[in-house]
Amino acid sequence: MAERVYVSRPLPAPATEPLVAAGLVVDQQGEDRPATREELLEGSAGASGVLSMLTDRIDGELLDTAPRLRVVANLAVGFDNMDVPAATERGVVLTNTPGVLTDATADLAFTLLLAAARRVGEGERLVRSGSWTVWGPTQLLGRAVAGTTLGIVGMGAIGSAVAERARGFGMSVVYFNRRRAPEAEQRTGARYVPFDELLATSDFVSLHAPLNDDSRHLLDAAALARMKSTAVLVNTARGPLVDEAALVAALRSGTIAAAGLDVYEAEPVLAPGLTELDNVVLLPHIGSATTATRAAMVELACANIVAVLRGDPPPTPLNPEVLT
Ligand code: DGY
Repeated sequence: MAERVYVSRPLPAPATEPLVAAGLVVDQQGEDRPATREELLEGSAGASGVLSMLTDRIDGELLDTAPRLRVVANLAVGFDNMDVPAATERGVVLTNTPGVLTDATADLAFTLLLAAARRVGEGERLVRSGSWTVWGPTQLLGRAVAGTTLGIVGMGAIGSAVAERARGFGMSVVYFNRRRAPEAEQRTGARYVPFDELLATSDFVSLHAPLNDDSRHLLDAAALARMKSTAVLVNTARGPLVDEAALVAALRSGTIAAAGLDVYEAEPVLAPGLTELDNVVLLPHIGSATTATRAAMVELACANIVAVLRGDPPPTPLNPEVLT
């Protein structure tokens, strides 16, 4: 009998073609919205593979209702929606999509950095509202980027791609990471500093750390208070890295100057007051949303499923110990 793969949402091209071409039977949640919990549990129940979104919770309950399950491939590099130890215990391989979305996400982090620095959102709203009357020498003055310091929190692939972009814009780069990243230091000229020093000395702080128990609310009220009052915070990683209520208070009181956000603590719900602030640029979690990047993510997720179900090593496993 052909093995079944549950796909929790319609996908961009190449969609499920690679799964079908490998002889797998695809069962897809067909509406362009996250699968409900019931749909996810029901869809996974008899499946050998699941292609999941970052909005799907992959936990012990789901794994226990899916006895045939051998692989869950997340269509994201972040995998805080997956319980890795629970899957490892049950012998289920989990995979993510690192690498293929590095440039797209770094581009978006830099987009937010520039947009917040140069008050792009405010300018756009002014023009669209019809209230812009004429050029003015004091109108919408923003922050210069060249000659300033960018602090990168999390010097993985995306963090170092942001550092490379920063060099091109004439910025100095400091970074904080759990481990020193000598290769990235060499390639980008970034300098390692302790977290508190990064907060105190950076003009821009960009977050690229994974979300886990240690990094939740890394940027809380106390950390925000350590930043320069002229600083800009950028978050394209995961919303819960920042205490969003504390960020609203910091942006309102002038503790920091501005922020650019692509991710939120309880997406799609935003902390009260956030949308009322002019000094924050808000995007709807589109870091990897280019046609080419999403196609590459779909291809990689499918390749992971096909490999595991064929008994081959998958390209990007999160718990490779299951394979040995
Ligand atoms: C990821 O991959 O983790 C992004 O948040 C979505 O592409």
